[in-house]
Amino acid sequence: MNSADRSLQTPGKTAYPRRLEGRAKVTGAARYTGDLGSRQIGLDLLHAVAVQSKAASGRVRSIDTTAAEAIAGVRAVLTHQNAPRLKPVKTLTGSEIDLYLPLQDDRLHYHGQPIAVVVAETLEQARYAATLLTAEYEVCDHPALSFTEQLPDASPVKKVAAGDPGRVVRGHPEPAFLTAPVQLDLTYTTMPAHHNAIEPGATIAVWDNRGRLTAWSATQFTYGDATSLGQAFGFGPLEQKLGILPRAAAGIQLGGGKIRVIAPLVGGAFGSKASNATLLLAAMAAKTVGAPVKLVLTREQTYAMMPYRSAVIQRVRIGASSDGKLSALLHDAVIQHSRVGPFIEPVGEWTPHLYACDHLKTSHKIVRLDVNAPGWMRAPGAAPGLFGLECAMDELAQTLGIDPVELRLRNYTDVDPQTGHAWSSKSLRECYRAAADRVGWKDRNPRCGSMREPGDLIGFGMATAAYRTMQFPAVARVFLTANGEAVVQSAAHEIGQGAFTSLTQIAAESLGQSLDRVRFEFGDSHLPFAFITAGSATTLSVGSAIKLAAEKLKRAMILRARTDKASPLYRVPLREIEAANSRMFVRDDPNRGEEYCSLIARHPNRTFAAKAVAGRTFGKSRYGRAAFGAQFAQVAVDPATGQVRVQRLVGAFAGGRVINRVLAEGQLRGGMIWGLGQALLEESVLDSRNGNWVNSNLAEALVPTNSDVPSVEPLLIEEDDSRGSALGAKGLGEIGITGVAAAVANAVYHATGKRVRELPIKLDKLLDFKLI
Ligand code: MOS
Repeated sequence: MNSADRSLQTPGKTAYPRRLEGRAKVTGAARYTGDLGSRQIGLDLLHAVAVQSKAASGRVRSIDTTAAEAIAGVRAVLTHQNAPRLKPVKTLTGSEIDLYLPLQDDRLHYHGQPIAVVVAETLEQARYAATLLTAEYEVCDHPALSFTEQLPDASPVKKVAAGDPGRVVRGHPEPAFLTAPVQLDLTYTTMPAHHNAIEPGATIAVWDNRGRLTAWSATQFTYGDATSLGQAFGFGPLEQKLGILPRAAAGIQLGGGKIRVIAPLVGGAFGSKASNATLLLAAMAAKTVGAPVKLVLTREQTYAMMPYRSAVIQRVRIGASSDGKLSALLHDAVIQHSRVGPFIEPVGEWTPHLYACDHLKTSHKIVRLDVNAPGWMRAPGAAPGLFGLECAMDELAQTLGIDPVELRLRNYTDVDPQTGHAWSSKSLRECYRAAADRVGWKDRNPRCGSMREPGDLIGFGMATAAYRTMQFPAVARVFLTANGEAVVQSAAHEIGQGAFTSLTQIAAESLGQSLDRVRFEFGDSHLPFAFITAGSATTLSVGSAIKLAAEKLKRAMILRARTDKASPLYRVPLREIEAANSRMFVRDDPNRGEEYCSLIARHPNRTFAAKAVAGRTFGKSRYGRAAFGAQFAQVAVDPATGQVRVQRLVGAFAGGRVINRVLAEGQLRGGMIWGLGQALLEESVLDSRNGNWVNSNLAEALVPTNSDVPSVEPLLIEEDDSRGSALGAKGLGEIGITGVAAAVANAVYHATGKRVRELPIKLDKLLDFKLI
């Protein structure tokens, strides 16, 4: 990447650096795990192909590998009978491999479970040989494959994802509901959906002759994967202690430095790479054949071997006064689940925190099916949960004849109503106002079915968006090389969200170094610790550590200069010295100063480095911390066919200090488009006869394309969040999807008078509407 690329600016906007790896990505020069071959790794790679179960439950009776093994180039076929034995794994995030390790026994938990891995010299040989495997199953008679049929078996859970409580009660919700002047009792349904990140699961595993293991992997968490490998392959007692984050944060070497996981650029994750499907299989295969092995999933394989968002049925009950004040809010979710895997969609996570209401309840139940494990997917909990809650709020507004924005303002709260803590900052009022103004909310005719364009019914809808801001532990190291280049190191990940750029930018600003002289090294468990790149937390978490380390180094450089007789800054009072563009200088006399590199040149034997730890306590705060926003949608519905087209999405978001507006808007726009997909298109269809995902390809899995997305406008409301953190940023990665589906469904109601409570809103949902 040359320096000209780095200095590109967006016309008419403040000079935020463009994506540093952007040119490499659009020219195809960027390398993802699957792009790495023998040349890049420097070793000859063998190729592995995973073979999946065609039965959903029961046992593998036998697998005949003879024909596959007879194919030229085939080096091994791993099955549960000969695969290396793995020790139990407890990862730092609690991924599905807590409970299920592949190829360890003959039990089947889902259709598409890996039952064998074929390793050959070429990918073609491995693929062909894989087709020759024949498995016989002892099939269980009645696999549970239908969410709706199994609903009577739903069982309550104590905890949902991220350790949140499965049940929250405030006041006396049931009696408060039953005595409320206005009562709504509504049920909303959402379907399963897969992430479909462009890059599939992929790992290259290399064992060297000293027993060291290196894996290049498409992952959101190199340290977590290294921990899993260390535990699974028994790398000694160290790994048993790795759950203790402060120790990890202090920079311990995993497995005594014998395990290393490297994440090159990651081609989209959104939670799908938080539980690494290919990691253990590739490592087992490489160990078996005694040679480096590369395993990449096909698109179809990602459906069963990577996670997805569960189907959810939510019941929302709202009790309110006739002027729209909430007196009771009950949110009960039933979530489709699997036999193995601990992730449970935290559907009601936001319900206790969004509106003032004294009597409240959330609960979560799961229905176990013989399907693969669901997992984290962009805005876990809030994406389905706010669909239910924000549609129900709209239904209340319509019932009472109150403007939907006004209804939210009547229940607005400046404290987190669940904890009583003040929010570190909350500019949701400004978000409602800004987005409503932009979309022309006041100019609409609020009566259903009243707005028309030739051939179409037009509707406007809105919803609140919210996502919590988390701060995870992170360590950063910054040093200056002999030629004055700054190197920043932290095991964070570039998963497409722009962390490479925003974190490089924070380092440059905090060190007073020009951006093109900062090199950020990331995505490697041999670098200083960073927690999982997830939860919209990376800019704040890793950025805080980088800021601290870079400021520490800047101060050390300035102190060194003012005690160095040869420096123009000798004996200048500390408070009068500044640094910018790789140079220290006197604030009121900028010509007096010197470059970092000239100071370094006079001290060739000294290292100029600093290290810092941030968020050791997971960012515990006495303030509630969250980003808030407002989503508005304008839709057109064809009354003849029921087809819904989104004409316009406008979202306003308050997420603290904006580090890089271009990248932040990109994240928000992507989230809003995904929300549009959730509203109108996305649904993974499970065949209830055999447990197979039937639309496991990008032709039949519908996602929005350009023609579905005419205008998407994210507006950023800048906040001072210094009460929340020194960096002042909040999470902006996930909030963009939240509330969109509700805004679209509410707009469809406004256009047609038909309330659709089941996503996605395809033609069949609007076949029968009659204008009211
Ligand atoms: Mo995300 S669903 O926290 O990767």
